[in-house]
Amino acid sequence: MNTVAAPSRPHRPAARYNGVAIALHWVLGLALIGLFAFGLYMTDLPFSPARLKYFNWHKWAGMTILILSVLRILWRLAHRPPALPAAVTDAMPRWQHAAHAGTHHLMYLLFFAVPLIGWTYSSAAGFPIVLFGQLPLPDLIGKSPELAETLKPWHGYAAYALAALVMLHIGAVIKHQLIDRDGLLSRMLPH
Ligand code: HEM
Ligand code: HEM
Repeated sequence: MNTVAAPSRPHRPAARYNGVAIALHWVLGLALIGLFAFGLYMTDLPFSPARLKYFNWHKWAGMTILILSVLRILWRLAHRPPALPAAVTDAMPRWQHAAHAGTHHLMYLLFFAVPLIGWTYSSAAGFPIVLFGQLPLPDLIGKSPELAETLKPWHGYAAYALAALVMLHIGAVIKHQLIDRDGLLSRMLPH
């Protein structure tokens, strides 16, 4: 009888996020960066019909991101990502574990807070959303100029907070890739 054990695979690829999670990560990541930049651009423009048009485009894109984020979180709740490889986990001090989980949780929170504050602000300001110029969406609250004034900067603050977390996130991925060289990035790359 042949008792020779099958050779182990020394370079077994690290467990990855599944294809849907990876696709949503990159599509939404790019869309959020693009919409953040577009938000800064459009608010800087002088009043004009073009500015009004861009505001509508911004709202439509933001609502599309919100819908995709709902699908993303539902998918995420139904499909837990694979645990980090033991070598990565062991090398991370306790604060890095907290930062890893905390950044991801806060990003998810802001994926909803940013567009929902934008939607609430639009409702309070008396500019209902007509998605792609076709589908009227309900107002989240009644018209209230005072509340609109209060909410207006908060959409921006939340978007800036998300941008800061994204920079922290990308910085951490670069550190894992270039300094720790632990292959964390491959968990989020297409198969
Ligand atoms: C989902 C991702 C979104 C991101 C990342 C985003 C980002 C931004 C940014 C960076 C600004 C400029 C803020 C400033 O300079 O103070 C802005 C402005 C604005 N956003 Fe969004 N936004 C998003 C979604 C939405 C949605 C869903 C709506 C409404 C339905 C919306 C409505 C607005 C409005 C009305 C402004 C102009 C506010 C003003 O006049 O100062 N945004 N957004
Ligand atoms: C150069 C750009 C980016 C790179 C290289 C990158 C890379 C990664 C990697 C490797 C992971 C998996 C981490 C792990 O295994 O625990 C991850 C997760 C994540 N990334 Fe990114 N990312 C980038 C941009 C973004 C952007 C722009 C956003 C948000 C706007 C984002 C949001 C997230 C979130 C929320 C997770 C957690 C996913 C989950 O557990 O469901 N990333 N990213």
